[in-house]
Amino acid sequence: MKYALVTGASRGIGRAVVLRLAQSGIPVIINYLNNQAAAAETLNEVTRLGGSAELLPFDASDPTAIDAAIDSWEQAHPEDYISVLVNNAGIRRDNVMFMMPDEDWHKVLDTTLNGFFYTTRRLLKHMMPRKRGGRIINIASLSGVKGMPGQTNYSAAKAALIGATKALAQEVGARQVTVNAIAPGFIETDMTRDLPQDELKQLVPVGRFGKPEEVAALVAFLASDEAAYITGEVININGGLYT
Ligand SMILES: NC(=O)c1ccc[n+]([C@@H]2O[C@H](COP(=O)([O-])OP(=O)(O)OC[C@H]3O[C@@H](n4cnc5c(N)ncnc54)[C@H](OP(=O)(O)O)[C@@H]3O)[C@@H](O)[C@H]2O)c1
Repeated sequence: MKYALVTGASRGIGRAVVLRLAQSGIPVIINYLNNQAAAAETLNEVTRLGGSAELLPFDASDPTAIDAAIDSWEQAHPEDYISVLVNNAGIRRDNVMFMMPDEDWHKVLDTTLNGFFYTTRRLLKHMMPRKRGGRIINIASLSGVKGMPGQTNYSAAKAALIGATKALAQEVGARQVTVNAIAPGFIETDMTRDLPQDELKQLVPVGRFGKPEEVAALVAFLASDEAAYITGEVININGGLYT
């Protein structure tokens, strides 16, 4: 049976993606870092909606932890494979660059960019054999498309993720694996809770922050059979906030 793995899925956009994919009928693996209570609540919600899911905590920036988690999942699921990967785990550590500590630079790149590399490389083993195919969906950001002051680390990580999306799409297309990026603008989650929403929403042509469910709907489309001919794309979802 085919599964979907969503990294950083205990809260926010990842949680909404899990619920949406589970409702489309695919069993979902919920990854998270520390927040067991939020992950368990997401799992309960999937079950309540009649879907199927399981928890698989690991640090998406740690290749040893990723390998150990996927190895144990494979042992428990000898007949199954992961055909949809949503690289969603991400963090912000904002600061102007001249004040930015090394740790904040590395932590952001480790989670978003290295996390994408380690997790995707491991799961291509599930998608490439016998042209089984697959869907890799990378959650980038408007910051990676246009750059955001105070976010050189985050913008660099997301821009690199977009470059990797385009390159990998060309490597694996012949195996029926598609690779796309989604670049959200301001979405209402814990990550944006400390931002001055009333002020910022005036910059957005549609006049509001987006909802995690709106991003999840786009992920579900890219994960579907109908999206088989879309690859190497970066799809903006930002209420018109391009500049
Ligand atoms: N919100 C926005 O406006 C916005 C805009 C553009 C792009 N994005 C991107 O969308 C993605 C999701 O953002 P969000 O707003 O939903 O964030 P969020 O509400 O802060 O949730 C972050 C999620 O990532 C998990 N996580 C963090 N570090 C991890 C790690 N090392 N390994 C595994 N999981 C990890 C967290 O797990 P725990 O619960 O265990 O901590 C949590 O589930 C991120 O990549 C973010 O950069 C967000």
